[in-house]
Amino acid sequence: RTVAVLAGGLSHEREVSLRSGRRLAAALSDAGASVREWDVDAALVERLRSDPPDAVAIALHGGEGENGSVQAVLELLGVPFVGTPAQACRRAWDKPTAKAELARAGLDTPDWVALPHTTFRALGAQAVLDAMVDRLGLPLMLKPDQGGSALGSQVVTERAELPAAMVSCLAYADTVLAERFVAGTEVAVTVVHDGDEPRALPPVEVDAVGGVYDYTARYTPGAATFHCPARLDEATLGTLAETALAAHQLLGLRDVSRMDAVVDTEGRVQILEVNVSPGLTETSLLPTAVRAAGMKLGDLYAALVERAVA
Ligand code: DAL
Ligand code: MG
Repeated sequence: RTVAVLAGGLSHEREVSLRSGRRLAAALSDAGASVREWDVDAALVERLRSDPPDAVAIALHGGEGENGSVQAVLELLGVPFVGTPAQACRRAWDKPTAKAELARAGLDTPDWVALPHTTFRALGAQAVLDAMVDRLGLPLMLKPDQGGSALGSQVVTERAELPAAMVSCLAYADTVLAERFVAGTEVAVTVVHDGDEPRALPPVEVDAVGGVYDYTARYTPGAATFHCPARLDEATLGTLAETALAAHQLLGLRDVSRMDAVVDTEGRVQILEVNVSPGLTETSLLPTAVRAAGMKLGDLYAALVERAVA
């Protein structure tokens, strides 16, 4: 099969995506595929027309690669691709939208409010921050409502830290997602399709050396330690798998996804988010789970390519 791996693009996660793309292309080549690596730009449609691959594999992160834009182009052109359809990407990519759907279905996700930047002008920044702390308490986790790799995200323990944390989020998005901070064990559960059936891989526990799993901790070898399976009891590992599968199906995800969650101090699984294009770099969570499951990244994606073209 010929596979075009899409990476790069112009999002804030461009560098991460280029690393994911290189890794995926190498893995697919090892599995016998003939691979092209395309840095996504305005020439994408022309390339798909002049050099049509059997299928596309998306290693884009952030922006157009996860918000459904590139997927919509592929759907429009009738190009088979590995990954979630455009409409489901749009829902999963917007964190408040995804959290609302998960919560409606009875899945636990930390309490939150979404604050569009216009509310600050309309109501006054101090009034908004006061209402937010009254509602959610401290500490809080602030994130851009759309984004990845923890860019712009901040834990806030003191009121005085709020304005700077808001600005940090608003550098990446127009809306801030404020979540109650949940202490506990940070885990990621990868879901992959095994034929038509989604299957949860062993949960990976993240232990960031400095305590915060930020951008640097994510992409610096040795800055975080992974335990796979996570150091949790069997029942909790089972709940994590069930929760990841439920979220994957509820949000209409396809082929591959990764749920990020915290197991709180009472043992409850609190979903932070679901990723439609999980990182594939040397320090990313999905490759760790794939390895722990005794699978090879290239074989997994080659099987997903077959599923896409079928
Ligand atoms: N957004 C990064 C790539 C991840 O979820 O792994
Ligand atoms: Mg993410």
